[in-house]
Amino acid sequence: MRSRSGPTRRSFLGAAAAAALPPACVIPRGGGAAPSSQVPPDRRAGRPAPDLDALLAQMTLDEKIGQMTQADKTAIGDGRDVHGLCLGSLLSGGDSLPVPNSPQTWAEMTDRFQTQALSTRLGIPLIYGVDAVHGDGDVRGAVLFPHNIGLGATRDPELVQRAARVTARETAGSGARWAFAPCVAVARDERWGRTYESFGESPELVEVLGAAAVRGLQDAGDAGAVLACAKHFVGDGGTAGGKDQGDTRAGEAELRRVHLPGYRSAVKAGVGSVMVSYSSWNGVPMHGNRHLVTEVLKGELGFTGFVVSDWAAIDKMSPDYTADIERAVNAGVDMIMVPIRYREFVARLKALVAAGRVSPARIDDAVRRILRQKARFKLWERPFADRALTAAVGSAEHRAVARQAVRQSLVLLKNDRATLPLRPGVRVHLCGFRADDLGVQCGGWSVGWRGHKGTFTTGTTVRQALEQALGSARLTFSTDGAGAASADVVVAVVGEDPYAEGSGDRAKLELSPSDRALIASAKQSGKPLVVVLIAGRPLILGDVLSDASAVVVAWLPGTEGAGVADVLSGAARPTGKLPCSWPRSMAQIPVNVGDASYDPLFPYGFGLSW
Ligand code: GLC
Repeated sequence: MRSRSGPTRRSFLGAAAAAALPPACVIPRGGGAAPSSQVPPDRRAGRPAPDLDALLAQMTLDEKIGQMTQADKTAIGDGRDVHGLCLGSLLSGGDSLPVPNSPQTWAEMTDRFQTQALSTRLGIPLIYGVDAVHGDGDVRGAVLFPHNIGLGATRDPELVQRAARVTARETAGSGARWAFAPCVAVARDERWGRTYESFGESPELVEVLGAAAVRGLQDAGDAGAVLACAKHFVGDGGTAGGKDQGDTRAGEAELRRVHLPGYRSAVKAGVGSVMVSYSSWNGVPMHGNRHLVTEVLKGELGFTGFVVSDWAAIDKMSPDYTADIERAVNAGVDMIMVPIRYREFVARLKALVAAGRVSPARIDDAVRRILRQKARFKLWERPFADRALTAAVGSAEHRAVARQAVRQSLVLLKNDRATLPLRPGVRVHLCGFRADDLGVQCGGWSVGWRGHKGTFTTGTTVRQALEQALGSARLTFSTDGAGAASADVVVAVVGEDPYAEGSGDRAKLELSPSDRALIASAKQSGKPLVVVLIAGRPLILGDVLSDASAVVVAWLPGTEGAGVADVLSGAARPTGKLPCSWPRSMAQIPVNVGDASYDPLFPYGFGLSW
């Protein structure tokens, strides 16, 4: 499994490469104290962006290469290399989080790194990137929205835009000014561990909601706007067998029909960055595909922002790192998410330019694209975190938006004898640990790369919310269904544990044995059974469908479990529609609307109400 942070490779760097380190951005000899954090007053207070062509003309090759280099927060340590190498960007990979973790410590951390950047010769501000894919997920206390598959079920672009706007303002409040979102993957095979990051299986749905998310992130009002990043270009959701980072085998016409629309609409919405996919197309790694990255994305679609690679993705192209760099940069990748061996990257790219294998014109094009986005998002004017936004992270106003998104994301698959909504006065037995686990309802990319069970941030579980909605006198709870017989209705919550990326790839999507045992126990009560699914994708229901009187899909709702209780209790009506076809069995997967023979258990767009 790819390490999310690891030792820097400076200690292994050959003497030649080390000697090639840029003179203009000189690493203090022998380590030394981090450069003075005295930033010229005009830079600290913010200043208008300079004329970018004039700035580019002033820049040395080393300073240009620095702008093309993104390092991870863990690898960068105290940040002296930000100054020493004039790095243009840092990121917090899923597990590169400050300790302690709060909006305030994030803002202090990003400001510290920004100070290093502003104290360089040209003082070009740094841009800090995070995976704000369902809210500013890394920050403890931030509001976490339903993951994209749940937003896909809302079919509501205006709501998606409002959610993205809140995400932008909370992300900016943490000091990050670049969100690696929206994912505009079109998930065609539920075995893929990133299905939940997609708005769904339909190119049209992804096209509309992806553009709405871009607008919400980038137009969130001056101080709150952040650079968006449409990802992962292109075809990440169409790999054979749903294998993460696998191979998408399709003719160009099908690739364009299914997987390109999200990028076309994101470009039209003004997206400022695009991240390349780890996956390949017909065996050619996307990071080396000049036809798609430069000719199609930048040429045909007219994308004027910058292209960033994925986490250490170029390393995977071949055993020859220098050749990987040459191939990726010449394919049109403008910034490399290195993110650990960044000193080696800088030295090797410099050597490639010296050897004429990467042209100065390509370097200038990449740097100009990057600088343009930094100017667009006011990084010169406002280089530091806006502390008013920091204070608003996790606000009641933001949580209300997320709660509404949860309500609208729920899909009612079955409701025999009007079991739902839970009538006033009815006694309810709620069961299953997932009903009372904030981490389970948040899923991956939640204060940690793969998320985790338990309570690690602020939010409301389904259990807490139902107790508030029904009153604790009407609600009993167990993790195993014991006590269900004393109630009038039983609600069992089942689904998936948190995961991210390839760790979520599954050959089987049946319910776990413990979840099946829970349902069997609940069924023994003889009372009407409501099954609530907290999962990042359709699961194979099997007998559960006949055992249950009602089935509700809550997807991965995030921190505001109250939105689930609102629908179950009848405070809100279910309006969600399936963003993906629901397979009868594994044998049916992949099954997508438009297939010649299409017979899923529930079709794309299905959803009941009352
Ligand atoms: C990951 C993901 C990408 C994410 C990046 C930074 O591997 O593929 O979606 O933005 O690394 O965390």
